[in-house]
Amino acid sequence: MIVETAVDDADMSRRAAAMVVAQLRAKPDSLLVLPTGATPLGLFRALVAAAEAGDLDASCVRFVTLDDYRGIAADDPRRLLLWLRRALLDPLGVGEDRIVAFDPEGDPEAEPARIEAAIAEGGGIDLAIVGLGPNGHLGFNEPCSRFDSRARRIALTPESIRSNAAYWGSEDVVPREGFTLGLGTLMEARRLVLIASGARKRGILAAALDGPTGEAVPATLLRLHPEATVIADRAALGRD
Ligand code: PGA
Repeated sequence: MIVETAVDDADMSRRAAAMVVAQLRAKPDSLLVLPTGATPLGLFRALVAAAEAGDLDASCVRFVTLDDYRGIAADDPRRLLLWLRRALLDPLGVGEDRIVAFDPEGDPEAEPARIEAAIAEGGGIDLAIVGLGPNGHLGFNEPCSRFDSRARRIALTPESIRSNAAYWGSEDVVPREGFTLGLGTLMEARRLVLIASGARKRGILAAALDGPTGEAVPATLLRLHPEATVIADRAALGRD
């Protein structure tokens, strides 16, 4: 695992964007996984700017969603796919035909298998970039998710419901279930990158980098991956 120290959130975003640009230069039709949340916003802005400047050709890139809510309408604007579309995929001109996404209205048992099959048929994930949950989660893989877990339906933990309430107005209306790629699914990505910024991630990032490796902190999966990179800013690394 390589740990890159970024000066700040903007530097972290630039470094992660450079990785995506290099990936698409090497393989224009790469299959990518990108996170939602606050952390990747600078990365998305950098990618859109790179495309506008002609430094990024997104005409063949393909995406798989990392996670999403279950049991909401497919066109609910709070669906994570639609959030990702607004922030990145639409500005990059990535159409439906190049997106594999959990359908929140899909059959809860069949949907995860459909996504795993689509990833396999698409040749596997080339690059997965993930954020770091306050409890160490990756996607909706909460603490004690198995390292060999596959895509699945999951119940959101009270902590995730609380942290998502900001996007929904109140805890009462946050969906109680979601779909997520599994830790085993992410482990098979050719390259796995974790991005983290800000002092509020300091404790959990320290646990992810230096604490005991194990399922209690899902982000410690990075340490088992052969091509893993952590890009974190000085505040998150406790070096400010
Ligand atoms: P954040 O979320 O980027 O909004 O901090 C990270 C996560 O929970 O995965």
